[in-house]
Amino acid sequence: MLIRSNWGDEMQVYLDNAATSQKKPEAVFLAMENFFKQINCNPGRAGYELSLTAGRKVMETRERLARFFNMKEPNEVVFTQNITVALNIALKGLLRQGDHVLITGLEHNAVVRPLKALEKDRNISYSIMPTDPQGQVDPVEAAKLIQPDTRMIVATHASNVMGTLVPIEELGQLAAEYGLDFVVDTAQTAGCYPVDYKRLGATVVAFTGHKHLLGPMGIGGFCVSREAAKRMKPLYEGGTGSISDREVQPDFLPDQFESGTLNTLGIVGLGAAVDYLEQAGLEEIRAKEEKLTGKLLAGLQELPGVIIYGPQDATRQTGTVAINIQDVDNAELSFVLDKKFGIMTRPGLHCAPIAHRTMGTFPEGVLRISIGHFTTEEEVDYLLSSLQKVVDAI
Ligand code: ALA
Repeated sequence: MLIRSNWGDEMQVYLDNAATSQKKPEAVFLAMENFFKQINCNPGRAGYELSLTAGRKVMETRERLARFFNMKEPNEVVFTQNITVALNIALKGLLRQGDHVLITGLEHNAVVRPLKALEKDRNISYSIMPTDPQGQVDPVEAAKLIQPDTRMIVATHASNVMGTLVPIEELGQLAAEYGLDFVVDTAQTAGCYPVDYKRLGATVVAFTGHKHLLGPMGIGGFCVSREAAKRMKPLYEGGTGSISDREVQPDFLPDQFESGTLNTLGIVGLGAAVDYLEQAGLEEIRAKEEKLTGKLLAGLQELPGVIIYGPQDATRQTGTVAINIQDVDNAELSFVLDKKFGIMTRPGLHCAPIAHRTMGTFPEGVLRISIGHFTTEEEVDYLLSSLQKVVDAI
């Protein structure tokens, strides 16, 4: 048992940014409070001023995201409650009976579980592209898995467990070469890496608002071109505020996929967050995270008994780092870091059993440390010194 009673430092350090970014820019709070107190009407549902203002707020965020992901027009940005819903719409909306799909060896259950359901319902099948234990995906070897019924490539942009960046541009080229749909999960990268829909040749780019995009929880979405959307079925139907004389679902973007009242408050917060990111600059944001990740990796490498997974190279991974300490249960380690040092991390399997199989850490899992935009050098130092104390106590 690692718990000691005399460790008692008082800091509170959040290092679970791969799950959500806990801190947000002040502008996000202000925009949400202002909207909630002063406006808070349903957008696109009536002609009075406050409803129109709410509609304009939604459009502002759409415009910002369209610019951010390089979409031709704002309506090619669709809002959903989170990225899991976005990925479900993409997979279930595009895949047909008997289709074959290629995925990376790093996918989250947000991709794998819908595919498992489709295996049963539509007889689809999937193959895992060759992915080494550090998470490197090999597009050349992946091409060898393409068969006549292959219809789609699905790839996370970065592992949510060990941070490895996936060569999505090469996978996009592969998809284009074979005429496949290309679905990209940017849960771990949108907000700290550029994601350019056109450059990737993507069919769907799914995003979450509450991680590196720095918005609130409960808002996500996807980017889809007008042309690709024509081939995509919605997952659910309902009121959209448009063409209310008709009983069938609208077939135009974004209404085709946006039934029911939107999380307008979340959209307003996300809009303020994207504005903040645009002003801060993605390059600067990434440079800071890369520096801190390098510092974290270098510090971890110095600690005896610490096993580090992934590329161990800040230029080839996000600020997410996976470790284990020899002979220590990672759930207990996470518990001790929280209870004794006030450091928040995530142990276990991270909803990504496939990634853990790839890493060779299934079923015991790892301790995940994830840096975010508001992480400081002091916090990284504190984590390292706390881990040193743990190591010394073993
Ligand atoms: N998908 C999130 C994670 O990796 C919640 O922790």
